[in-house]
Amino acid sequence: MSKYKIAWLPGDGIGKDVMDAARIVLDRVRLDAEYIQGDIGWEFWRKEGDAFPQRTVDLLKRVDAAMFGAITSKPVKAAEAELVSALQGKGLVYRSPIVRMRQMFDLYTCLRPCKGYPGNPLNFKEGIDLVVFRENTEDLYAGVEFNPVPQELRDTLTRLSKPFGAFKDLPVDQYAISCKVNTKKGSERIVRAAFEFARKQKRKKVTIVHKANVVRATDGLFFEEAKRVAKEYPEIPMDDANVDAICMWLLKNPYNYDVLVAPNLYGDIISDLAAQMVGGLGFGCSGNIGTKLAVFEPSHGSAPKYAGQYKVNPIATILAAKMMLEWLGETEKGGRVERAVASVIKEGKVRTYDMGGNDSTMEMAEAIAGHLPD
Ligand code: IPM
Ligand code: MG
Repeated sequence: MSKYKIAWLPGDGIGKDVMDAARIVLDRVRLDAEYIQGDIGWEFWRKEGDAFPQRTVDLLKRVDAAMFGAITSKPVKAAEAELVSALQGKGLVYRSPIVRMRQMFDLYTCLRPCKGYPGNPLNFKEGIDLVVFRENTEDLYAGVEFNPVPQELRDTLTRLSKPFGAFKDLPVDQYAISCKVNTKKGSERIVRAAFEFARKQKRKKVTIVHKANVVRATDGLFFEEAKRVAKEYPEIPMDDANVDAICMWLLKNPYNYDVLVAPNLYGDIISDLAAQMVGGLGFGCSGNIGTKLAVFEPSHGSAPKYAGQYKVNPIATILAAKMMLEWLGETEKGGRVERAVASVIKEGKVRTYDMGGNDSTMEMAEAIAGHLPD
């Protein structure tokens, strides 16, 4: 029997391309794992009305970790139009499977390291090394949304909220409400994860990202919890910044930052910014980590126009595999994968199109595997 059971979830679009590439690397480091293929993605939405079928949920309950590729998401109406005819008009609503997975399995930490490997022609500046901790289950992603807004909610908000007066007489088809829900527990545990990481990895600072000056209830709560947790880590310098300002400061002085921690949506945004500074989405990797399960994925989307062409850069997914190795406790293998990636980038002989080269997804994977001694 293998030491680990890994759910293998390529999804759709370029998901399969990059996962095939990651598998070459995992096989080369001889991870003692059984990989179990799981159904997820657009195809299952169209045919079954569920992009994340129950059998895949059940699979995730019995594995040690999962690797996930990418999934196409479309707005509600466009998604319904693509259902097989027998499923049309049944009120099925598409919700992103990865967001559902994060919530269903309480994968509350979204860990996004953004490290510039020396010699990458896409580095914004050399030597950038940022780590984003994104809260992964609540905030504007909570899914508490109304369009149209029910009369009952209108009445309640009219009664309880003075600012709602500006909207209360609008025709019902003229507005929508998405609720930002942040809890003390959710805020506390993500900030704690960031400080624990900073302590273990001897990082120089933790920056709390928020917009508490305007979004006072939810971001105010997040910021208060963050300050409370920070007191337990007196040896780690802490500062804070508004989410808009941090976008400016990160570009201006990236070396002033180290670990950043943010509520879900701000974390989503700043992690794309940070990924772009170290080569773009071809380099952004991500771990969705809970207490029982962790799911590793590239931060990029499914890029349908490149699907099956084996053209895109697999490094993000290979670095996600490296994160999985570390999470499983296989740190020596993880370190080897990272050094192999760094060597291939530095040599510059094999480059995918985003890096200005002509090499394919699999050529990049083979080059990285070639730097992994048996
Ligand atoms: C990410 C992605 C997802 C998100 C999408 C695909 C739902 O942008 O993982 O950052 O918004 O979280
Ligand atoms: Mg994103």
